[in-house]
Amino acid sequence: QDKKDLKGKKILITAGPTREAIDPVRYITNHSSGKMGYAIAERALDRGAEVLLISGPTNLKAPVGVNKIDVNTTNEMYEAVLKSFEWADVVIKSAAVADYRPAMVAENKIKKDDNDFSIKLVRNPDILKELGKRKKDNKILVGFAAETQNLFHNAKNKIQNKNLDFIVANDLTKEGAGFKSDTNIVTIIDKNGQTKHYEKMPKIDLAEIILDKVKSLLIEE
Ligand code: C5P
Repeated sequence: QDKKDLKGKKILITAGPTREAIDPVRYITNHSSGKMGYAIAERALDRGAEVLLISGPTNLKAPVGVNKIDVNTTNEMYEAVLKSFEWADVVIKSAAVADYRPAMVAENKIKKDDNDFSIKLVRNPDILKELGKRKKDNKILVGFAAETQNLFHNAKNKIQNKNLDFIVANDLTKEGAGFKSDTNIVTIIDKNGQTKHYEKMPKIDLAEIILDKVKSLLIEE
């Protein structure tokens, strides 16, 4: 396939998990591999877009031609994404960022004793929500939802709360969906309520479908 139908479009994609430090040797993270976001970056580049990938720590290599910014924490991702928000025509937020971080990062390695130990967590900024607030009509904003319960209800709420054009919802309870896997099983729901379910497929094929949907919205304007 050699269509360059996204030529001239600037696409910002986030991918991967974040890491929130507890002390110099420990951190809180999640199972995100970055595969979905990197697949979208690869297909967007092939289709002629200018691609900026803002990525948490992953084992993946960005395709040659993609501009990449590496970040660790949700706050770092927030800063990086906001800096490039104006530049972008399309923002696709496939990163699984930490919603909370330790209130303090210990300067030295925390030593154990015989007592239990707890960590106070504080709220991280909601990047997508902030983007939704700043969004003008001509920008396309795509979110992801990874849920283990009430998938549709939560996904629909997010479209509204975060002012999204559409959301890609994956049901984490299904085999072959969500984190780490090379495949995904999703439902795409848009702001007009249009809902379409996709059976299990490679993330690279799903990337194509997501970009087709983006393309159709760009044409509508
Ligand atoms: O509300 P929830 O975190 O489940 O929404 C998921 C979507 O919001 C994903 O697209 C994710 O990248 C984005 N998100 C974000 N900043 C956060 C949490 C989630 O941008 N702090």
